[in-house]
Amino acid sequence: MRKPIKGFSKLSKIEKIEWIAATYFKDADAAKQAIKQYWNTDQKLQQLHDEFIENTITNYYLPFGVAPNFLINGKLYTIPMAIEESSVVAAASKAAKFWLDHGGFKTEVISTTKIGQVHFMYTGDFSKLQKFFAAVKPKLYEDSEDITKSMKKRGGGIVDIVLKDKTEDLKDYYQLHATFETLDAMGANFINSCLEQFAKTFKSEALHFDDFSEDESRIQIVMSILSNYVPDCLVRVEVSCPVDELTEDKSISAKEFAHKFVQAVNIAEIEPYRAVTHNKGIMNGIDAVVLATGNDFRAVEAGVHAYASRNGSYSSLSHAEIVDDVFRFWMEIPLALGTVGGLTNLHPLVKVALEMLDQPTAKELMQIVATAGLAQNFAALRSLTTTGIQEGHMKMHLMNMLNQLNATAQEKEKIVAHFKNNTVTHSAVEAALSNLRMMTNN
Ligand code: MEV
Repeated sequence: MRKPIKGFSKLSKIEKIEWIAATYFKDADAAKQAIKQYWNTDQKLQQLHDEFIENTITNYYLPFGVAPNFLINGKLYTIPMAIEESSVVAAASKAAKFWLDHGGFKTEVISTTKIGQVHFMYTGDFSKLQKFFAAVKPKLYEDSEDITKSMKKRGGGIVDIVLKDKTEDLKDYYQLHATFETLDAMGANFINSCLEQFAKTFKSEALHFDDFSEDESRIQIVMSILSNYVPDCLVRVEVSCPVDELTEDKSISAKEFAHKFVQAVNIAEIEPYRAVTHNKGIMNGIDAVVLATGNDFRAVEAGVHAYASRNGSYSSLSHAEIVDDVFRFWMEIPLALGTVGGLTNLHPLVKVALEMLDQPTAKELMQIVATAGLAQNFAALRSLTTTGIQEGHMKMHLMNMLNQLNATAQEKEKIVAHFKNNTVTHSAVEAALSNLRMMTNN
């Protein structure tokens, strides 16, 4: 039986690896070698990565790719993407190229505010709580001035704080529901610091509020935290072109393609099983750029999927229509992103990504990320409604299979050429490789 380990975080990196290798691996030396091979020889760079989190033992690589030719509001971008899925960057590039020749992507930021809440319990008269809130509200702003000063100078800060009665849903439960403008910062630390200060002020001021009975004055703060649901941090992206210009795929007429495409979107609008996969395709593009630019993809994912269910049933994030022979495809999506703070000034590759994007503001980054999402969705739906998804997917996955089968560079070249005109399946690749090896050995 394995025993729990005490004081693991105090061990050195080497000691941690030794312990893991000895405890969990049949071949401890091979495990140590696999872990250490990803250490960076640049000590300073390695230390930077070590210190991002606790108990770092090595680095975990993801490919950092780029998708060029994105025309967004008349400006050309090459979009950085960090992702492991074989076909994503190729699909983004293909969609970018198509819309480059058809007017590009049009984007617009609709709103940029974020929400944070102090959740608390109060047993007493609501009208007294309202009176207390009105009295203490200016002090909530005042006491958090040290935190908000520099954000305010730049035009952001606390937009509003309201008191919410949630007792219909949960006995004694109320909220301070605050709205924030965090400009180019994602704002999680800023919002949480403000909220924790609100909670402190709120709790301590309640103890001295004359109208409260002793019981009422003992407000119980449960927690103070930002919300990753950001329906008012919203960006819109759209593409459109005359239906008869949708001629990319020769296997189907432009008109038929446009109609099938719109039907595919209609299906995702009403069928949650399909909507989840449809939106997953959008997130392929979104997450890859969010990750490459050092943003929090878990926050974005949580917020986006909540938004996709805002009408009570999980639905498509994107929409499409044909009106007067013009095809229109668009989406509105909530994205809380930052281009300052967090990893943005720390991670060398994040710096590269942001410089490649001309040091965007958070608003610009919202538009770029949303574009990557819509492009990805366009590429997926185009394949799904024409050739099917597997053709492209398996072609892109071919290299992974060849690597798994330990193909040499020469073998890879020959096999890739062979599958230009043949269907890629796992067994077909295995057969082609063993044929090639037999022929080479004879
Ligand atoms: C695969 O990663 C994403 C797709 O399944 C998206 C979709 O079905 O729309 C291709």
